Amino acid sequence: MDKIVIEGGKRLSGEVKISGAKNAALPILVSSLLADGWSTFTNVPDLRDIRTVCKILENHGATVLLDENDSSVIRINGSGLNNFEAPYDLVRQMRASILVLCPIVARLKKARISLPGGCAIGARPINLHLKGLEKLGAKIELKHGYVEASAEKLIGAEIYFDIPTVTGTENLMMAAVLAEGRTILGNAAMEPEIVALADVLNNMGADVRGAGTSEITINGVDSLQPVNSRIIPDRIETGTFITAAALTKGDITITDCEPSHISAVINKFELAGVKIKSEKNTIHVQGQDVITSVDVKTLPFPGFPTDMQAQFMVLMCAANGTSMITETIFENRFIHVSELKRLGAMIKVSGNTALITGGAQLSGAPVMATDLRASASLILAGLIAKDSTSVSRVYHLDRGYEALEKKFANLGASIKRVPE
Ligand code: EPZ
Repeated sequence: MDKIVIEGGKRLSGEVKISGAKNAALPILVSSLLADGWSTFTNVPDLRDIRTVCKILENHGATVLLDENDSSVIRINGSGLNNFEAPYDLVRQMRASILVLCPIVARLKKARISLPGGCAIGARPINLHLKGLEKLGAKIELKHGYVEASAEKLIGAEIYFDIPTVTGTENLMMAAVLAEGRTILGNAAMEPEIVALADVLNNMGADVRGAGTSEITINGVDSLQPVNSRIIPDRIETGTFITAAALTKGDITITDCEPSHISAVINKFELAGVKIKSEKNTIHVQGQDVITSVDVKTLPFPGFPTDMQAQFMVLMCAANGTSMITETIFENRFIHVSELKRLGAMIKVSGNTALITGGAQLSGAPVMATDLRASASLILAGLIAKDSTSVSRVYHLDRGYEALEKKFANLGASIKRVPE
């Protein structure tokens, strides 16, 4: 296992290119199961989770070709689909594997997928995925830690999500596109990744309308064609670099990003006094001497994303007053707090709220990553902590950030990856 060592105090400046979005790539790569023939995906981030999802697709019989000259190009052929089972040892590596459930039922009429289980940030139930698939006519049983689903034919239905679920919406979209008749997804998630998946499905010949709103209407079709698709930029990686520029009072130009995907984040940074100028696919960030404390509540899109909560908390540790962060999406997403406090942060947690007293001069220490976005927040804290911070268990980071330490080093950070 590697660790990342940072010598704090460097002001970051320069240009950084954003990679493709993990949370768009995962459902879009899975959607290739819905068509026979070769689909080509570009701007795919080179991540552990991407390699995992490719293994899962191959397990079902798809053929996956990684371009030997360019890791951001992946070609997948869904013709060879022949296995309806996704085993525990694959699914446990990545919860999002549950995204194969609906496409496999739609194409093979049955599926046996290991239950994904929870993770550090919460129980991560999939009851809404299963309830929706049942509404489309599938028979669902939970046996020996597996979901067993079968349906001779999927019939369009009205599905209402009790809470907006991102992968739940994606899963049911991928079932409804091949169901007979019309499906309406109510209280659907509205994230940019949902819109990206809908665009890909429509380019495959599906009829998906309303993606990006809380009501998505899907008219089923008989079959879908393979597609060529470019993965949208990662809005959370973009927010992570905005945080780094603000923290280090730096001057960073972020390219190949999509400012409209992170309006709520940009709004909060501007309220904190950060100078941000957005153009087409570029954001110019100038950190200021004074960071103003700002309260944040995480919400489904278009609200402030939960995946930016840990990163923003680090900014509030360096702010000039007291701020409150309320986490409304996941029940245990403050694990990074105890590690930040080892660096000298002044944070008090009560239930789903964290009270941050700013102005602490953080000092370097060994800390441990516990989940993907917590790892990023510890690296951000290391950028401003005095002396040396070492972040262990960075395999969490490698799941969702492409060569983050190299990108920070190119911006002037003193940061390196060393074997633990
Ligand atoms: C997606 O997870 C993302 N993952 C997460 O990113 C992100 O934090 C999350 O959406 C929220 O934006 C991917 O897209 C691969 P949800 P997902 O279903 O779909 C509850 C990262 O760091 N719920 O939108 O699993 C659930 O417990 C990861 O990249 C049910 O109760 O999240 C949560 O409280 C972390 N029943 C809320 O809904 C269900 O059947 C939202 O979860 C499904 C969800």
